[in-house]
Amino acid sequence: MKAFSLKNLLGGMSTTKFLRDYWQKEPLLVRQALPGFGGWLDRASLSDLACRDNAESRLLRVRKNQWQLDYGPFERKQLDRLPAKGWSLLVSGMNHLLPEGDRLLHSFDFLPQARLDDLMVSFAPPGGGVGPHFDSYDVFLIQGQGRRRWEISSQDNLELVEGAPTRILSNFVADRTWELEPGDMLYLPPRFPHNGVALTDCMTWSVGFRAPKAQEIATQFLIYLQDKLEMEGLYADPDLKTTRHSGRIPDELTAWAVEAIHNIRWDERDVADFLGRYISEPKAHVFFEPPERPLGKTSFAKAVVKKGIRLDPRSQVLYAHKSFYINGEEINTLPGTGKILRNLADSRQLPPGNLDDNVLFLLHSWYECGYITLAPS
Ligand code: SIN
Ligand code: CO
Repeated sequence: MKAFSLKNLLGGMSTTKFLRDYWQKEPLLVRQALPGFGGWLDRASLSDLACRDNAESRLLRVRKNQWQLDYGPFERKQLDRLPAKGWSLLVSGMNHLLPEGDRLLHSFDFLPQARLDDLMVSFAPPGGGVGPHFDSYDVFLIQGQGRRRWEISSQDNLELVEGAPTRILSNFVADRTWELEPGDMLYLPPRFPHNGVALTDCMTWSVGFRAPKAQEIATQFLIYLQDKLEMEGLYADPDLKTTRHSGRIPDELTAWAVEAIHNIRWDERDVADFLGRYISEPKAHVFFEPPERPLGKTSFAKAVVKKGIRLDPRSQVLYAHKSFYINGEEINTLPGTGKILRNLADSRQLPPGNLDDNVLFLLHSWYECGYITLAPS
């Protein structure tokens, strides 16, 4: 499967117009954004994935307005015995599990990869869904198999059902409704109330985004800084006087600590370096699989010339100015590697052809870690 054409993806709208008028502002329905798209899975193959321990799966059930959420991996028997209605099975990280999923996610590369999160797929029988809710991040909901009715609302009331295991809006009143067919797509900005109800056996593919929270960035930056800190000095009190209140922390000690903490220094470069590492860091459950019998440097170089390479779907390469990051580590760039690394980060692959020895050296080390693979010939 090739990346889907951008022309269709936004229904002929330019990315400039989309970003100006819709992104983070207004919902957008695109009929036949992906003509011919039916998804790559059916209920049985999604159930298989939901039983794997390298997949993040959830089963949401509702009975008499009581919601129940369970996390996978599941037993196949349990999934096969689900009732005819009232549930939804969701698997996240489909871009790691299916090469087509990775390509679908990266069809949205007119937006920064640093903002992309993952591709999720859900299956629901007729009437099923995850209930009326809002998400914190932007999402493109792409209809795969079957039909789904999407209801959306501009309501300000975001009150939630108390005690429910997921966010369910207690007073959802739809003001727009559409029925989506395979290949149709609905874009929703963050915090926009919506409710998707399956009309038939139904699969929805969600391209989800992420945005860091200020609290998370500050906390993580302090952790990063801690590893880099080199502070001099030791508190001393040669003029200490006898105290009658030995439980009291001396004011001089507090003043000394304030001064020491004021002396912690960091600048924009530290923040940028932290951000590159943090955003390119794989999620906690992601593990890379090194090749079983890796090629040596010479055979690898020959194969790269012939086939080119691809980033493993789990890999993230990002850059800012002259700094490059792969999977949470800064890349030690060598002379002449900048242009090719930018190309690799943007397109997630390098075509067949000769490469500089410095680049081949880096690529071989990543190949041995499972961060990249040779492109199939
Ligand atoms: C679903 O696929 O059922 C849920 C997607 C969403 O509402 O964000
Ligand atoms: Co949602």
